[in-house]
Amino acid sequence: MIKNIAVLASGSGSNAENIACYFEANEQVKVKLIISNKENAYVLERAQRLGINSVVLPKSAWSSGEDVLAILQENEIDFIVLAGFLLRIPDLILHTYPNKIINIHPSLLPKYGGKGMYGDKVHEAVVANKETTSGITIHYIDGKYDEGQIIKQVSCAVLPTDTPEVVAGKVHALEYKYYPQVIEEILEKRD
Ligand code: GRF
Repeated sequence: MIKNIAVLASGSGSNAENIACYFEANEQVKVKLIISNKENAYVLERAQRLGINSVVLPKSAWSSGEDVLAILQENEIDFIVLAGFLLRIPDLILHTYPNKIINIHPSLLPKYGGKGMYGDKVHEAVVANKETTSGITIHYIDGKYDEGQIIKQVSCAVLPTDTPEVVAGKVHALEYKYYPQVIEEILEKRD
């Protein structure tokens, strides 16, 4: 059975694109839909270029989640991947997709997680605190920011001379390598 993924992204969407490209040749897994909460998010241009359906659901839709659920069900979505999505996932969606929603965070959680800790803010804090390592955390979503069960963590070295931009580059490289692989492994186990 083909498994349909929805990728949720609020911004640039480089992970969304990377995941979509990774599964392009996979006959069992398909990135069917990209959802954003921002109508000017660059991820929407990427979706168009990739020929993937996209939809914008404004912030107001994410409190009850009914419209979100309707779109997911219309598109027969089996699995939800957050890739730089900045709003809380409504309980309705969490209950309808138990253990079927994952997120990636650009730090080694529980360090540098929680509300407001996203994107460059994470890397700036890592450098300001003179950390010697950072990395990625891929985890299930449980309704609290960055607190669901951890699936995989991979670390990278942070050198004393690294700027936040350099750390961001190292972390993004880990995201591109591991996020699609983890998604594939989870879905393969669920035949
Ligand atoms: C990534 O660093 C991801 O870990 C975080 O948000 C960023 C999204 O980047 N959750 P992009 O939009 O995929 O380029």
